[in-house]
Amino acid sequence: MHTKIAEGIYWVGYVDWSVRNFHGYTTSRGSTYNAYLVKAGKTALIDGVKAPYAGALLANVKELAGGGTVDYIVCNHAEPDHSGAIPAAVKAFPGAEVVTNAKCAEALSLHYDTAGWKFRIVNDGDVLDLGGKTLAFYTTPMAHWPESMATYVKEDSLLFSMDIFGQHYASSARFDTEADLEEVFQEAKTYYANIVLLYARPAAAALKKLGALDLKTVCPSHGIIWTKHLPEIVSRYMDWAPSRPTAKVVVAYATMWGSTGKMAAAIAEGATAAGGVDVKVLDLNACDDTDVVRELMDCGSFAVGSPTLNMGILPRVARTLTYVRGLKPAGKTAFAFGSFGWGSKGAEEAAGYLESFGCTIMRPPLTRRFAPDAATLEECRAAGAALAAAAVSAVENWAK
Ligand code: FEO
Repeated sequence: MHTKIAEGIYWVGYVDWSVRNFHGYTTSRGSTYNAYLVKAGKTALIDGVKAPYAGALLANVKELAGGGTVDYIVCNHAEPDHSGAIPAAVKAFPGAEVVTNAKCAEALSLHYDTAGWKFRIVNDGDVLDLGGKTLAFYTTPMAHWPESMATYVKEDSLLFSMDIFGQHYASSARFDTEADLEEVFQEAKTYYANIVLLYARPAAAALKKLGALDLKTVCPSHGIIWTKHLPEIVSRYMDWAPSRPTAKVVVAYATMWGSTGKMAAAIAEGATAAGGVDVKVLDLNACDDTDVVRELMDCGSFAVGSPTLNMGILPRVARTLTYVRGLKPAGKTAFAFGSFGWGSKGAEEAAGYLESFGCTIMRPPLTRRFAPDAATLEECRAAGAALAAAAVSAVENWAK
């Protein structure tokens, strides 16, 4: 199965309708591993797919190559969702040169037995003439790994952008003009929050470098290919990359016997009553961390609630905060809250997490022994109103 993208350029990847866990990222709508074939005087395969789907990739390539061969196998990124099938491709096309940068060649050699591979090492800005089409290579370090790069086809103003602009989104559609755009943009945002967020600065640098190119078509390594709606996804990346806040308050919590849940509801009530903000209440026992991070990424402020279990934070809350800490959403105002029985360590540990990822701490942990009384709930509502004000201020300060 293949799809024509432009004259001589084809999608030859694999649609993974079944994947639901991508190294911890919940991929509710599956994914695709996009590989491409560029046919000119010479033929180049651009990236691979996960190892188990190498057979499908090679069948797609052979369908197009006919009796011909593949002269170059370009590897833009060594992560196994793209490089997993490269060993099989090298075996199938033993004359092919593996075109990549030095860091990627090293990473490939640390994943696979690359003895006998014919590497062609390229540097930033190098070109490869296929005879009628020219590939240019641009390094994009830390977007997503240190060795990541993108490949540009000058004659078609077409970019193979690797993980940038990707979405974990399985679909029979290949192009943005065919797919449900609302779903695609939501998955692009989820992807950014869970994959790119930690590398927001390098991603912004990559955007600046690649944005200088004449671009008509952008082919990421996951999901839908951008054509007509390319300006919209670029604009969204420009908002996401510097963690632009929106007037949104997130209240994320887990509860044991309902007390921390009541506090969460009162905080949300206070924020809602203050007005001017969208309020999201996330019961962590009903949410994936994947979705929590998407909501936190562009909020202006948030509160996180944990009761105390065994003299510490509730493991469900610690799991979320550990994940969020790794992704480091920037510029948030936050506080911790929670009910306790005979030690308020749960909320205190949650506050420690908030400090560790650089939040502006709005107030000391808001705690209550056992069930919250009317005074505690009123304090929660006031704290919610203050959170709303912090979110509004974050938006105003950003605009200045
Ligand atoms: Fe889709 Fe960083 O690999």
